[in-house]
Amino acid sequence: MAILITGGAGYIGSHVAINLLQDNEVVIVDNLSNSDTSIIEKIQKITNKPVKFYKADIRDKNKLKEILETNNIETILHCAALKSVEESIEKPLEYYDNNIGGIITLLQVMQEVGVKNFIFSSSATVYSESLEPVNEESKIGNSSNPYAVTKVMTEEILKDLARVNPDLNITILRYFNPIGAHESGLLGDNPKFVPTNLLPLVAKAASGEIDSLNVFGDDYPTRDGTAIRDYIHIMDLSDGHILAINNMNGFKIYNFGTGTGSTVLEVIKEFEKANNVKVPYKIVGRRKGDFPVSVCDATKAQEELGWKAKKTLTQMCKDTWNFEKSKQN
Ligand code: NAD
Ligand code: UD1
Repeated sequence: MAILITGGAGYIGSHVAINLLQDNEVVIVDNLSNSDTSIIEKIQKITNKPVKFYKADIRDKNKLKEILETNNIETILHCAALKSVEESIEKPLEYYDNNIGGIITLLQVMQEVGVKNFIFSSSATVYSESLEPVNEESKIGNSSNPYAVTKVMTEEILKDLARVNPDLNITILRYFNPIGAHESGLLGDNPKFVPTNLLPLVAKAASGEIDSLNVFGDDYPTRDGTAIRDYIHIMDLSDGHILAINNMNGFKIYNFGTGTGSTVLEVIKEFEKANNVKVPYKIVGRRKGDFPVSVCDATKAQEELGWKAKKTLTQMCKDTWNFEKSKQN
């Protein structure tokens, strides 16, 4: 099967590409706004398989159509998006243009060309605030920032499209907090600009690249006062994509997380223990828009796809550090 990954040079798309290449042809479209071509070389080095790469923007309708037609694409995995919550508050139009404009163009072209299978990288951010684990039926509608709104809106667009096109297979994957890296140390979470996610910053604090990590808030209603997230290893997440792609049938939504939450301080302690390093940190005020708890109920993915996250937080911390060190060599 020929699969197009939009945003395939990014963190999640590149790791999924590695697994997909085992049995499929992979075509990547990425405008490199948050990545670079070295990622394509690394995917090829790890898998020893060729990847067809186009530096293109998914809002470029003509180019996209040409790519879909010339490569006989059967399935689209849509990872391309801008993803910083803080930046989205500062630059809402850029986020709506890229994330909403992007998917509209992509879906229009998909329909014109006749591609029937579509997978969307959504996020736990669509859920409303909840101290309990959330399942796919839990309340959605987070409107605390434009990034979250683009995910909620895109899900609605896909629902509407599925309703009038029963021949389409559309799967929405709601990722919780993907962390870690490929075991080779060649690929990991390596944003082009200053990272805002926790683990890349923990690694930078451990390496001395930043003086200390800011821990956002220690007054949440949690066991140590810091916020709880459901961290999932990027390769478990990648495995989940393969099962989702192989089991497409109509309109589906799946949570991808472990079902277990960790506080920020627990992550720091685990990182220090797993890698025998110090992570200097200081407690600062809460970050605007953060929820106290975000944990997944992953029962549906287990029951319907036979998928379950296997890797521990220790492994996630080890692989993150391995990637950080290999970048410095
Ligand atoms: P990333 O920034 O590493 O990768 C996204 C890629 O898309 C980048 O390589 C970027 O250059 C490309 N891109 C952006 N806009 C584009 C456009 N208009 N045309 C072509 N390429 C474009 O991000 P990621 O962490 O790999 O996230 C992938 C998807 O998963 C995103 O949709 C993100 O919102 C979602 N997601 C990520 C997380 C996370 O923690 N990383 C959590 C939940 C959901
Ligand atoms: C965020 C987004 C989510 C998005 C995901 C990927 C929010 C509310 N959610 O998830 O929509 O899909 O990133 O980009 O922003 N933390 C610190 N110090 C730091 C960085 C983070 O203490 O320097 C804490 C945060 O407060 C949070 C946890 O670490 O409790 C995880 O943060 P982060 O990695 O940014 O992910 P989320 O905020 O959960």
